[in-house]
Amino acid sequence: MVVVGSGAAGLACALALAPAPVALLTKTALPDGGSSLLAQGGIAAALGPDDSPERHAADTLAAGDGLSDPQGAMDLAVDGIDALKAVIAAGLPVDREADGRLALGREAAHSQARIVHAGGDAIGRNLVATLLARTAATPSVTLSPGTLAVDLVVEGGRIAGLLACHRRWGWIFYRTPAVVLATGGLGVLWRETTNPAEATGDGLAMAARVGARLSDLEFMQFHPTALLPKDDTGGARLPLLTEALRGAGARLIDREGRPVMQDSHPLGDLAPRDAVARAIRRRRAAGDEVYLDLRPALAARGPSAFPQALSLCRDAGYDPVRAPVPVAPAAHYHMGGVATDACGRTSIPGLWACGEVAATGVHGANRLASNSLLEALVFAGRVAESLRRPARQTRPQAWAPARIVPPAVTRAREAIPPTRKRLRTIMSHHVGILRQGSGLAAAAETLQRLEARFDLPTGPPNRRDRTGFEDLRSWCELRNLLLAGRLIALAALRRAESRGAHFRSDVPRRRSDWARHQSLTAADLRPPPPEAQSAPAGTTEALT
Ligand code: FAD
Ligand code: SIN
Repeated sequence: MVVVGSGAAGLACALALAPAPVALLTKTALPDGGSSLLAQGGIAAALGPDDSPERHAADTLAAGDGLSDPQGAMDLAVDGIDALKAVIAAGLPVDREADGRLALGREAAHSQARIVHAGGDAIGRNLVATLLARTAATPSVTLSPGTLAVDLVVEGGRIAGLLACHRRWGWIFYRTPAVVLATGGLGVLWRETTNPAEATGDGLAMAARVGARLSDLEFMQFHPTALLPKDDTGGARLPLLTEALRGAGARLIDREGRPVMQDSHPLGDLAPRDAVARAIRRRRAAGDEVYLDLRPALAARGPSAFPQALSLCRDAGYDPVRAPVPVAPAAHYHMGGVATDACGRTSIPGLWACGEVAATGVHGANRLASNSLLEALVFAGRVAESLRRPARQTRPQAWAPARIVPPAVTRAREAIPPTRKRLRTIMSHHVGILRQGSGLAAAAETLQRLEARFDLPTGPPNRRDRTGFEDLRSWCELRNLLLAGRLIALAALRRAESRGAHFRSDVPRRRSDWARHQSLTAADLRPPPPEAQSAPAGTTEALT
């Protein structure tokens, strides 16, 4: 079996599959790569004395704004407790109170303190280190860093293999009846993002190219508090200031020190992420700066609770102990993805997905903070369980390498950086926090032209082509970003309402006829995008 991705989902899945042999690929070096490493907030689980899986599920459903699957939310809350206990037993060094109880924190839209931390605000680093140490000691898992998954191969309607390229050894074809996508998200599509450079939607695009069903693509969560650096980062990710800071008392204020959220939402600084992100976006669009004052949180919990936040601020030239720091919303988490059932099975036989690349239906229109690492662990286990069940084995037919033509990337090399920059600008302007039908229609059309103009270099392989791994990776990533961007713009255009993280200023309300998931396949891109719909039909309910 092949698992693509070495974040929390991929590692947990490969471990759960043991002793079945697994090749675990990642396009980066190890332990680098993926959003999992960067997670600061924590993992949500109903472990507090006054908490229960029912309450956790209810918060998940409320955040999901009518689109979270109730059974999925309940299963996540129940199974998540065992999944978390299992990683703690495997060595995850979680933070505890002096008496040994778990130290549970609070985050936005959680009705209870239920966020488990490790190393203060370093849950991601600790989780990945724990899982990697176990993986290295598990002989059935073969780690293959520096291996870029390029395309899935489908024969007779089911997975027959995966085409990949290794940094040193070149092209590899994995002949396998089972591939698990654990490739993470696609935040790089937007100019301001908290996501690492490798979050380019590769898994989503690979699945789309073989016709997989995709779901909830329009729902992208923007985190309200990315730190604004003093200098231009050239498109690199923005450091995240964890919501746990606001959970511990940090305040969003304007230049004059007035609270920003007080009049915008009854829950103030702990309002759901989408509402806070929109409020900040509107203030910034009106020319105001918004700041996060970390001092109340540092006073309440001590600097040792937020080592990462402090060093991120200091690395960017700020001293958060002396003054508030400037923040802005940034693309953070994709609720949509490759549609799966409750076992992580996609619509293509032999293809599974877990972690951020998957759309399990649990997060609905807006993910509850700290639910994604939990979901990655729970669904990784489910994928492994369903893969272990004896399946109808069909031998892949003989595969002829000539069917896949390695691209002559060098011909496109110069077009890559400007096309990528233009794509990110379009996504930020038109498919960002505040959307509008006309802007989405324009984006869908422009992206289509951009993709067509970006001379996708297929055709007979050129023997003189000296494509290096990095060139191939940038080409593949841009190809994937363009496809993912077009699909997201189309999904956002079609959903003519506002719900959760998807806000349309031309239809700023929920519509009863849109209280449902939206599925797409790449085939939906073929006809020209429909006219922007702005005339509401069903009953409506205004959003803040
Ligand atoms: P990732 O961890 O992103 O891993 C993806 C893997 O796929 C990487 O190894 C990458 O190299 C590999 N890959 C991608 N494409 C290819 C390819 N073509 N070929 C080979 N390999 C490939 N969630 C929480 O629950 N709590 C938090 O506190 C929290 N904080 C966050 C903070 C930040 C800054 C960010 C960005 C996200 C945070 N999230 C948090 C969200 C959470 O971290 C992610 O949703 C989760 O880690 C995703 O895990 P994953 O295993 O699916 O993907
Ligand atoms: C954060 O720490 O604010 C991010 C948590 C998350 O995305 O779940």
